[in-house]
Amino acid sequence: MPCLFALRPERVAVARGRGRTMRHMNVLILGASRGIGLEFVRQYRADGHRVTGTARDEAGLQRLRDLGATALRLDVADVAGASALAWPLDGEAFDVAVFNAGVYGPRTTGLQPPTQAEFDAVMHVNVLGAMRVLPQVEPALAPGAVLAVISSRMGSMGLRANPSGWLYRASKAALNSVLKDASLALAGRATCVALHPGWVRTDMGGEGADLDVSDSVAAMRRTLAAVTPAQSGAFLDHDGTPLGW
Ligand SMILES: NC(=O)c1ccc[n+]([C@@H]2O[C@H](COP(=O)([O-])OP(=O)(O)OC[C@H]3O[C@@H](n4cnc5c(N)ncnc54)[C@H](OP(=O)(O)O)[C@@H]3O)[C@@H](O)[C@H]2O)c1
Repeated sequence: MPCLFALRPERVAVARGRGRTMRHMNVLILGASRGIGLEFVRQYRADGHRVTGTARDEAGLQRLRDLGATALRLDVADVAGASALAWPLDGEAFDVAVFNAGVYGPRTTGLQPPTQAEFDAVMHVNVLGAMRVLPQVEPALAPGAVLAVISSRMGSMGLRANPSGWLYRASKAALNSVLKDASLALAGRATCVALHPGWVRTDMGGEGADLDVSDSVAAMRRTLAAVTPAQSGAFLDHDGTPLGW
């Protein structure tokens, strides 16, 4: 059987398999070593899509290769690493790109001030990382691509009912701002959305979380598949329900 991706330069190959038409996409997942990011890679690969994933260490890179993805080393908090992303992405045309990398930081319940190091660690990954990496990804987006950041409902100010994890909340509120600006900068070229994955059983979410990672990612993939250009700049729950900022 011929390799579907040998059909390029068309960025999207259409194949008929098992009686249904499948649209093969080119997908980029940034921060894909484990948890939600790795599950995005697993599910898109399982559906036959071409996937590039990033990880910070060899173990993470190998997990991506084992799934048949192209694996790129990237620490989004490293300025040199983020700017070096441009050349391996040169010539790519991603239909879907997801900035998933994130850290929670101190598990505060009230107004305990973060240390400088804690503040820098969270803000450098969740906010500065996105501000450095998204401009590198922009030229590698296919026309009409979907660009998502994995945000959190915890970043919403309107929906907020308690101050737990206030550093993480501040970082995701800032990430939402970054996404909004990306949607304006890429208007007419890509649909940009911030997604809340739900409370998900991962290293970050913990064992007591509501959602299995496969269900969260399946729902977010359906949302990304259904999102329209008119929704660019929106903040959406994993199932596509609009969330307040
Ligand atoms: N789980 C939840 O309930 C939940 C809820 C709302 C939002 N989210 C968001 O969903 C995203 C994924 O979370 P998760 O639950 O899958 O968390 P996780 O299991 O802790 O995974 C976090 C991912 O981010 C990567 N990462 C961290 N720092 C990085 C850096 N400097 N450069 C590149 N990658 C980095 C990690 O890579 P390493 O393996 O190298 O550390 C890992 O792949 C995050 O943005 C998180 O804020 C999660």
